[in-house]
Amino acid sequence: MTVEAENVVPNSCPSLGPETKLNSTDSQQNSQTSSDSKLGSQTSSDSEHTDSSIDSESQQFVVRNSKVQECMSNREGWYSKSKNYWKEVPSTVDGMLGGYGSLTQSDLLSSAQFLAKLFTGLNTERALDCGAGIGRVTKGLLLNIFDQVEMIDTCQEHLESAREYLGEKMFARVPAQHCCGLEDFHPEPNTYDLVWIQWVIIYLSDYDFIALLARFKKSLKKDGYIVVKDNVTKTGCELDDKDSSVTRSDYQLKQIFKRAGLELIVDSYQKDFPRELYKVKYYALR
Ligand SMILES: C[S@@+](CC[C@H](N)C(=O)[O-])C[C@H]1O[C@@H](n2cnc3c(N)ncnc32)[C@H](O)[C@@H]1O
Repeated sequence: MTVEAENVVPNSCPSLGPETKLNSTDSQQNSQTSSDSKLGSQTSSDSEHTDSSIDSESQQFVVRNSKVQECMSNREGWYSKSKNYWKEVPSTVDGMLGGYGSLTQSDLLSSAQFLAKLFTGLNTERALDCGAGIGRVTKGLLLNIFDQVEMIDTCQEHLESAREYLGEKMFARVPAQHCCGLEDFHPEPNTYDLVWIQWVIIYLSDYDFIALLARFKKSLKKDGYIVVKDNVTKTGCELDDKDSSVTRSDYQLKQIFKRAGLELIVDSYQKDFPRELYKVKYYALR
């Protein structure tokens, strides 16, 4: 569903339909609880290279953790927790970054360098900011490069803050705000030069994440890219029960990209973040 920027309305996107509840087949990994901050701190995790033998029943999952699989299978419960969590978070840069607002400049500068170095041939008409929140990335990165940027977020309050945060002039170049969970978002084909997905994939079940990426692939214009920028664990996944989020490893993310039919063009790490935080990685895909 596309909603004009002036008229943000609550989510009424079509659902993908119910997930099949699957048996958990592998409990080799223990679930872990990460810190409160969504930038999060790195905790220990487990071996994960059991994915190569995925049985037919757990095709929906890349993570091999029975508790995480169980939580993700309860679609309504899974998404309502994160939605409720984000409603309570202040619509500020600090809120968007879980108290690490001071990292915003370093984050945005590094993202600009990533885009500049890699995408000299990129068309710059229209981008989509996924899990856009108040528009921190829209304002500090995407609108500096693209003529127009659409925003999508599940939280209406954050999207409504964007007008003031961006200012009228910049906001005029936001043709649409989609107040919608990414799991329910069905973009038009051949629409975006860039789909930017930063610090939001932890809220998607494996199944929905794979399906979403496959839809985004179709939504790309010629020479377009999808960029995922997010925290990665050293190995295995880490569940945060409080807001239904799961931080995945580099290995698991690459499995997900593969299953979505995407080619990984380039990946790299964010530099200069505090050591206590998760490593942050970029993936450019198409
Ligand atoms: C950590 S903030 C990141 C915001 C922004 N990407 C940034 O880097 O400043 C996560 C955002 O994702 C949104 N979000 C959480 N679950 C979502 C979902 N399923 N679909 C779309 N947005 C979601 C939250 O409302 C919040 O605004």
